[in-house]
Amino acid sequence: MSLRIALTKGRLEKNTVELFKRCGFDVNELENKGRKLFIPVPNFDLEVVLAKSPDVITYVERGVCDMGIVGKDTIMEHGKQLYEIMDLGFGKCRFALIAKNAEAVCGGYKKKIIATKYPKVAKDYFDSKNIDIEIIKIDGSVELAPLLGLSDGIVDIVETGTTIKENGLSIIEEIAPSSARLIVNVASMKMKKDKIDAFLAAIKENL
Ligand code: PRP
Repeated sequence: MSLRIALTKGRLEKNTVELFKRCGFDVNELENKGRKLFIPVPNFDLEVVLAKSPDVITYVERGVCDMGIVGKDTIMEHGKQLYEIMDLGFGKCRFALIAKNAEAVCGGYKKKIIATKYPKVAKDYFDSKNIDIEIIKIDGSVELAPLLGLSDGIVDIVETGTTIKENGLSIIEEIAPSSARLIVNVASMKMKKDKIDAFLAAIKENL
């Protein structure tokens, strides 16, 4: 049976395809996939599935994919223990508390409102500081929330820092770093050990 790996569409995709190329995997179909979501890598007995990051975790946890490549940010938000076998080093970014200024999120006695795509990460961060906040879940362009007056600050990922800079926001505190991780299904690790070992060896050599 082929190894099946779920890749996160979008930000991590380009780096992953480049890594596969360096490994000598035939990525021709992957590079010319069009709208196809299920792509074979013929010379390594590998099948690639392209999915949104939280779904990569679901597929690996449920065993319909043997492995997955997903950001630590998504793993942290997922919250449950996963078999993270390798830090791939790319897709580096960090979680941060962001606001117009420190006063907006640290000053006064009023309970603060935080908008975020990552409610669990935000809650864990403020819980660790024993600060009671209200969280508003937003699905994208979270930087708008403090600009519109919806929230006092946001918890979000910062990669280049361009988005916050161009919208007049600042990092008040860094929360945690993130990068792409290779995750493996525990049962697959036993049942397909030789194939997974060969895959891991190729990746390690070409990281
Ligand atoms: C992420 C994040 C920031 C931006 C940070 O959003 O939520 O908005 O990238 O990147 P930067 O520091 O390089 O500017 P994404 O592009 O994934 O879009 P979304 O907010 O619409 O989900």
